[in-house]
Amino acid sequence: MAGRTVLITGATDGLGRELAVRLGGAGAHVIVHGRNGDRAAAVAAEIVAAGGPAPDVILADLARLAEVDRLADEIIARTKRLDVLVNNAGIGGGRPELGRELGADGVELRWAVNHLAPYRLTRRLQPLLTASAPARVVNVASAGQHEIDFDDPNLEHGYDGFTAYCQAKLAMVMATIEIAEELSGTGVTVNALHPATFMATTMVIESGVTPTSTVDEGANATLRLITDPALAETTGRYFNGARQSRPHAQADDPKARRRLLEISDAAIASAVR
Ligand SMILES: NC(=O)c1ccc[n+]([C@@H]2O[C@H](COP(=O)([O-])OP(=O)(O)OC[C@H]3O[C@@H](n4cnc5c(N)ncnc54)[C@H](OP(=O)(O)O)[C@@H]3O)[C@@H](O)[C@H]2O)c1
Repeated sequence: MAGRTVLITGATDGLGRELAVRLGGAGAHVIVHGRNGDRAAAVAAEIVAAGGPAPDVILADLARLAEVDRLADEIIARTKRLDVLVNNAGIGGGRPELGRELGADGVELRWAVNHLAPYRLTRRLQPLLTASAPARVVNVASAGQHEIDFDDPNLEHGYDGFTAYCQAKLAMVMATIEIAEELSGTGVTVNALHPATFMATTMVIESGVTPTSTVDEGANATLRLITDPALAETTGRYFNGARQSRPHAQADDPKARRRLLEISDAAIASAVR
């Protein structure tokens, strides 16, 4: 990865932090995205201490689409090439007592952070990725996937945080398949994965679940999608760890995938106009 430029969202904790330090330590130019300056600076220092080149740090709260756009603008301004985009930042199901939360644009928070933000970021960085081809987009989704209710994607009725998380993660997988198809032949691959089950990260620990895998396991599976030369042509796929796998059946329906993109584009248009 020496000399390659890699953007990792949510690089300040858990899986994203591990990926940033490993890739930076291996010589990649890492763009560390975070929402907290001190935490992002600590990761940048860790990369330098591991012998890596000085990373770029860009802060943005992904719960606000205007911030996603500013993040994209800054990346485009700062780097001439982007070899890998890792859409890793995410939030879990949330504490039950908090109930249904909204992002800054009035969109249900899990839909906003776990689906709309990475979708918008990928769209905005598509020209840079294409100009940098061969390039890869790796979407950190989840095996937790729930059918999208197109009549109520914002989950205004019968809200449950885990369902909200799983619906947004399926949306990420479905968008992966659509964007991969669009980018076919450009040299940009787009894949999604479930990194590992219940890694020992803040998200899992906060939810009260006992971890069953390590961050290392998830990082190994994710790094494979980022670096493995054998996957250079693989695109539009979903992996459970290292194994290519089938996502939720709704992802097989091209009409549902296109409808997802329509409602996502409409939500973005009304938030950023
Ligand atoms: N842990 C698991 O077992 C598991 C399983 C399947 C999939 N995943 C997925 O793996 C990815 C990484 O999760 P993790 O387990 O490493 O979680 P984590 O330790 O909680 O880290 C989440 C990262 O996302 C960032 N983030 C959250 N909300 C944000 C926002 N509004 N704006 C900007 N950044 C934000 C966090 O920033 P702060 O440092 O500022 O909080 C942090 O860097 C997620 O997409 C998650 O859904 C995890």
